[in-house]
Amino acid sequence: MGILEGKVGFVTGGGRGIGRGHCLHLAEQGAAVVVNDVDLTEAQKVADEIAVKGGRAVASDADIGSRKGAQELVSRCVEEFGGVHCAVNNAGIVRDRSFLKMSDEEWESVMRIHASGTFWCAQEAALRMRDQGSGGAIVNTVSAAHMGNFGQTNYGGAKGAIASMTYTWANELSRYGIRVNAISPSGTTRMSASAKGADGKEIEMPFVDPTLNGPLVAFLCSDEASWITGQVFGSGGDRVVLMEQPAYGTGMFRPGGWQVEDLREHMPKFFKNRLEPVGLFKKPYPYYDGVEPPRSK
Ligand SMILES: NC(=O)c1ccc[n+]([C@@H]2O[C@H](COP(=O)([O-])OP(=O)(O)OC[C@H]3O[C@@H](n4cnc5c(N)ncnc54)[C@H](O)[C@@H]3O)[C@@H](O)[C@H]2O)c1
Repeated sequence: MGILEGKVGFVTGGGRGIGRGHCLHLAEQGAAVVVNDVDLTEAQKVADEIAVKGGRAVASDADIGSRKGAQELVSRCVEEFGGVHCAVNNAGIVRDRSFLKMSDEEWESVMRIHASGTFWCAQEAALRMRDQGSGGAIVNTVSAAHMGNFGQTNYGGAKGAIASMTYTWANELSRYGIRVNAISPSGTTRMSASAKGADGKEIEMPFVDPTLNGPLVAFLCSDEASWITGQVFGSGGDRVVLMEQPAYGTGMFRPGGWQVEDLREHMPKFFKNRLEPVGLFKKPYPYYDGVEPPRSK
């Protein structure tokens, strides 16, 4: 017997890549699954794959980048399977462009699908979980790009928002028995094919089976994880790694506060050689000699 027997879950963007793996593992553990994807053909293929193995699944092509789509998705869970207990927010797109060239459309479309889509789907699901009185689990999807990555103002910004929402909702929803966690997955997918390195150039990466994130998602959705909320785990490949959350680190303190003259004296003394690396590649801090405009010829 699987650890999700009797539960109903949805996975947004479940038609391919990492989301497909989540669907297969939720179903293998006994959950009835609504496989959501704007690409209905792919979603239906995953639902069929689950049915062939004896599981229960239906496909939904609701666009989760809208309140209406999120409502449609949760209603589908209720109509088909009687409720919702596991909400997996995975759908996503990338529209990479360096900051100074990024258009409003590139900014808004990525924020809408990742940040707003996660907000709408999680809220609709949590309202239903609260009204059911059953509790439940929400698993969101972030990315190391939220630490800062070349060309990903929109994507990194959205993922940072999702991480912050995860911490907030874990605090707000525990009273209803609803847990909220996130994964920062990895896997070779259509999306990962566009990944770039610290210099913004395309990089070759070894194949990583995208379905390997699914077991952790299934575990986090199960009652066996009732003690885990508000956490982000790096997943995929051979890893399950706890992501450290932003926290105040080292600092200087002065009774009555700091005036500019004090700062001029003490900032270099205290913080030079202590500044944080900038961006996800964690290269040693390179700017101690100053950030200068290009030299005129
Ligand atoms: N692949 C990686 O290594 C990696 C790394 C970090 C984070 N992620 C995250 O994992 C998640 C899945 O990524 P993936 O690599 O599997 O990408 P993918 O492009 O293979 O799959 C994403 C799926 O989301 C669907 N989708 C897009 N917009 C949608 C919408 N409005 N409504 C419903 N479905 C929609 C797409 O049709 C697609 O099937 C994303 O949130 C991504 O940011 C992936």
